[in-house]
Amino acid sequence: MSPQSPRGKNASRDIDPVSPQAASNAATSASKNSTGKKSYVLDIRQPSATAARTATPSKPRDIDTPVVAKPKAPALPNAKKVFIKTYGCQMNVYDSERMADVLSPIGYAPVDSHEDADLVILNTCHIREKAAEKVYSELGRIRQHKNKSKPDMTVAVAGCVAQAEGEEIMRRAPVVDMVLGPQSYHKLPEMIAKVARGTGDVLETEFDTLEKFDQLPETRAVKGFSTFVTIQEGCDKFCTFCVVPYTRGAEVSRPVDHIIAEIRGLAAQGVREVTLIGQNVNAYSTSGPDGKEWGLGELIRHVALIGGIDRIRFTTSHPRDMDDELIATLGAEPKLMPYLHLPIQAGSDSVLKAMNRDHTYAHYKQLIAKIRAARPDIALSGDFIVGFPGETDADFEATIKCVEEIGYGSSFSFKYSVRPGTPGASLPRQVPEDVKSERLKRLQDLLYQQQWDFNQSLIGRTLDVLVENGGRENGQLFGRSPYLQGTHFDGPESLVGQIVPVKITSAGRNSLTGELV
Ligand code: 5AD
Ligand code: SF4
Repeated sequence: MSPQSPRGKNASRDIDPVSPQAASNAATSASKNSTGKKSYVLDIRQPSATAARTATPSKPRDIDTPVVAKPKAPALPNAKKVFIKTYGCQMNVYDSERMADVLSPIGYAPVDSHEDADLVILNTCHIREKAAEKVYSELGRIRQHKNKSKPDMTVAVAGCVAQAEGEEIMRRAPVVDMVLGPQSYHKLPEMIAKVARGTGDVLETEFDTLEKFDQLPETRAVKGFSTFVTIQEGCDKFCTFCVVPYTRGAEVSRPVDHIIAEIRGLAAQGVREVTLIGQNVNAYSTSGPDGKEWGLGELIRHVALIGGIDRIRFTTSHPRDMDDELIATLGAEPKLMPYLHLPIQAGSDSVLKAMNRDHTYAHYKQLIAKIRAARPDIALSGDFIVGFPGETDADFEATIKCVEEIGYGSSFSFKYSVRPGTPGASLPRQVPEDVKSERLKRLQDLLYQQQWDFNQSLIGRTLDVLVENGGRENGQLFGRSPYLQGTHFDGPESLVGQIVPVKITSAGRNSLTGELV
């Protein structure tokens, strides 16, 4: 892989509001943009950037490590306290923030420990084996605490484990007062009231995604300069190893005007980078405000018009949905960062077929060639699974060859784990654990070497870094490069929230170090 220099500064394309009148109306009035082309999303204000605040780092999620959102401000003395622990992907991180938004008007402030919380929410992930077991052990600890010191605490399980095992959770863990699937977060206040009335267990696992989006508050209070925005949920692909289509339901795209309104609100709070997220983000498709079908490319072009938003990312994409319009947008839109997470999972066509990926290695390779032609500086990231049922040594070698030929700047790689209820679980020829471990080690040695080489190739280059916060030492700053690596350098605190040029002086596998230019 040979990524070239990122594009120049990209903060100069912001569009002022058409008129104050238009700016206070809905997000979809029609007018002309700077290129003279008709545009339907011109209710876009130059936001008043707020003072520097502590940032929430935007790094990619290691989905095996749970996170607890830091409170945005100390809880007022009479506020009720909610502790939300998030497992899994960035979709869950976003959902946890939205749960906090729903709870705020009814007097709940987030805290970072379950110790004196009035409400504890475990926002769970089901993608890996043992996910449910982890939740039950956490519930065991919470039960002990509740019995000993906080008898009136309300306990909720949310997310994909809740969706998949709602009734089982209620049966196995009587400490749980309510179970809510990913499409029911807007119902939290109602559910809390039901629990308070003592009308029995409360279980909400309906699949009405659009209703959720309609009912969630439009404004979102955020901390930091980079944040996620869910634009799409669910998946129709049914890869045979994956639980997502069962826990998150069918693909649903959020309306354009909701997304634009949310991002404008974020920009007005000082956010400079948005990552558009969805289980299958590039399957985004909806009827746009002009009555035409909008895909992700069109949406991105309009998000790029929002004043204050200087960087756009999107994840996670499926090779089947990487259409020409999106590739052209990758090539033409300078606010889109040169980093693409495009999982292939395996390099062997027979394994891809058994996985129901609906593409071959040749198709993926052609796609990458097209993407690189459109955007030569792109860094690729991917997900890989080793040891899918029936994977032979030769199949595994095809994955190694794929990685050697494509070249990845970063990656996530896993041993196949059986997910009950998915077609993969009942396939014959499951691969022994020691073979999976050996294969994973070999694959990761290669992927980590590529990541190291890629980071080393940036030494001497000047990269635009969005400064997220002060580093650990005084006078140190921390931010993210266009390729998402954490980047450390010295500089004044006043640069937090700015995009600054940093010359890279050294590089490790996971981060870069440089100096302000
Ligand atoms: N076993 C191993 N890895 C899995 N993933 C999803 N399901 C499984 C499974 N059953 C991985 C895929 C996916 C990523 C988010 O998690 O690589 O892209
Ligand atoms: Fe799971 Fe496949 Fe859908 Fe990705 S595309 S969420 S791996 S089913």
